[in-house]
Amino acid sequence: MNFWLKIVGRGLCIFLLLSSCKKEQKTIALEPEEFELQIPPGFPEMVFPVDNQFSLSRWKLGKKLFFDPILSRDSSISCASCHKQHLAFADELALSPGIKNRAGTRNATALGNIGFHPYYLREGSLPSLEMQVLVPVEEHNEFDHSMLEISEKLRKSTNYTSMSFEAYNREPDPWVLSRALGVFQRSLISGNSPYDRFTYQGKHDALNDSQKRGMALFFSSQTQCSKCHSGFNFSNYAFENNGLDSIYADPLRMRFSNNPADAGKTKVPSLRNIGFSAPYMHDGRFKTLSQVLDHYQSGGNSHPNQSPLVRPFTLNSQEKEDLLSFLLSLNDSSFTSNPFFGDPNQ
Ligand code: HEC
Ligand code: HEC
Repeated sequence: MNFWLKIVGRGLCIFLLLSSCKKEQKTIALEPEEFELQIPPGFPEMVFPVDNQFSLSRWKLGKKLFFDPILSRDSSISCASCHKQHLAFADELALSPGIKNRAGTRNATALGNIGFHPYYLREGSLPSLEMQVLVPVEEHNEFDHSMLEISEKLRKSTNYTSMSFEAYNREPDPWVLSRALGVFQRSLISGNSPYDRFTYQGKHDALNDSQKRGMALFFSSQTQCSKCHSGFNFSNYAFENNGLDSIYADPLRMRFSNNPADAGKTKVPSLRNIGFSAPYMHDGRFKTLSQVLDHYQSGGNSHPNQSPLVRPFTLNSQEKEDLLSFLLSLNDSSFTSNPFFGDPNQ
């Protein structure tokens, strides 16, 4: 496991000692002395913005912030409250509450391979991870805070101040805050599932026969799954309406574009680690992958914007089981248990 992270020095020894902690819900955090991002076979390079290149000190600062409730107005929740490592940085709740238990409006997305996305949020309204940080920080039903006030709080901490100087050679401020979180999130790379070992690492026994049959179904013109969930990250990042409703309570991409032709369309989600990130869809309406398959088999609810790729098909019970086991082969447990992505503030 962790074959794409080159860990040297003290980190490796501690890591080996702790590798039996795999099944823990909360991973015991480890701080490596060196951390080099390695891209899994079959994946493209991770592009860091010119003004925010990867460094260990930036990554450590970003990780500390990601897990620190200091970001919320009443210091009650952190990014990790809704993006939990053991769930591939998603949440088991359909809608995650913000501070003071304020109701959320959408299902929290998994963050594995998030740095490869061309734009963020389901409507695709934000072009970078650095900009996306503003959303949870300022949303009334998330942190309900402000970048400036958080920066003031951070400047009172000698630890944060010295980490910030080490990482960016300046005091904690909104610029540092958003960039450090961007660096940490780009390191959340997941590419060691059984599917990856089979497809990109030549391990012919990494998938069992049922998963291999399920893979053929996934890539078939019968199901059409791979027309939208395509490429190494199982998303073509297009905006599609997959036929969940005849009338959508959440306008999704139309919220951003104001164009009725976008109603009910969302960025096609990645299916990596899908077995960890239930419940499913933008509102978390489906608790199981079996329910998701029932939806697709039904052919959808004929919204005017529904993609023609979503249309009825029939799987017998063996085929359904095969497709489900293929979807589970996209789970990368070395990612969800990687101690280097654990909470450093514990
Ligand atoms: C209260 C729960 C909550 C908290 C706290 C929270 N998020 Fe999220 N996050 C969500 C939800 C819900 C979405 C989906 C929003 C959407 O679909 O438009 C999301 C989406 C995202 C996305 C976009 C994913 C994509 O596929 O485009 C990123 C990146 C992200 N969050 C990072 C963070 C970071 C970094 C923090 C802390 C600064 C944070 N989140 C705090 C609930 C939360
Ligand atoms: C027309 C493009 C398209 C096709 C074809 C398609 N999907 Fe999707 N899929 C989407 C979109 C868009 C969403 C997100 C919808 C939402 O959140 O409201 C989605 C969501 C999902 C989810 C839930 C993801 C999550 O994190 O919540 C799963 C699982 C899924 N699809 C599996 C499949 C399977 C299996 C097939 C084939 C039977 C398939 N999809 C076919 C576009 C498509």
